[in-house]
Amino acid sequence: MARRSGSSGRWLSRQQRDPYAGRAVSRALFKLEQLDKRFRLTAGSCVALELGASPGGWTEYLAPRCRRLVAVDLLPLANTPRGTRFVLGDAGDPRVQEQIEEALCGGADLVLSDMAPNMSGNKVVDQARSMELVECAVAAAARWLNPGGRLVVKMFQGAGFDEAMLEIRAAFVRVALAKPPASRAGSREVYAVADME
Ligand SMILES: C[S@@+](CC[C@H](N)C(=O)[O-])C[C@H]1O[C@@H](n2cnc3c(N)ncnc32)[C@H](O)[C@@H]1O
Repeated sequence: MARRSGSSGRWLSRQQRDPYAGRAVSRALFKLEQLDKRFRLTAGSCVALELGASPGGWTEYLAPRCRRLVAVDLLPLANTPRGTRFVLGDAGDPRVQEQIEEALCGGADLVLSDMAPNMSGNKVVDQARSMELVECAVAAAARWLNPGGRLVVKMFQGAGFDEAMLEIRAAFVRVALAKPPASRAGSREVYAVADME
């Protein structure tokens, strides 16, 4: 039998030990489920704007729990659940924002961002890009969140993180940081959950 290379062998053994592997459209769905259990994000009938939706784990989780769901990504969804309005494009692009505006038909109770850049391998560049995506999500929350609404935003610990947290703390009344169990222990990702007055 052919021997596996070191990296594919490590990948396989990580997959075999991973309780979340292969159980949903994406592992991300479990992270959102865990955040929802802790913060009761989808309690009540909410309108949600989801940024960074592809391949669609969060969308699959949110669609049956929301009155209206607008999902946005540079890439298509694997499936578009019934009742979901999908907008293809860059969440920072004004033409895409026009489509979001039209699809929301008003404000949102929940703005969620799981956006992450395509990793280049250059840590400085990747961290700067991920912080730009946090800025983009905070701007979307400022524009569309209803009073009393909530922002959930993925962030990567590293350069710019403390400054972004200061900005979020200044704009929201309560902010918590959470690392759901489904988020890989070695990853620098955390989620900020922020409540608007
Ligand atoms: C970690 S994945 C999201 C996983 C998704 N939440 C799920 O449950 O399947 C990050 C996504 O962010 C998207 N993304 C990155 N930059 C973006 C941007 N400027 N506008 C919209 N989506 C973006 C990427 O295309 C990618 O699909």
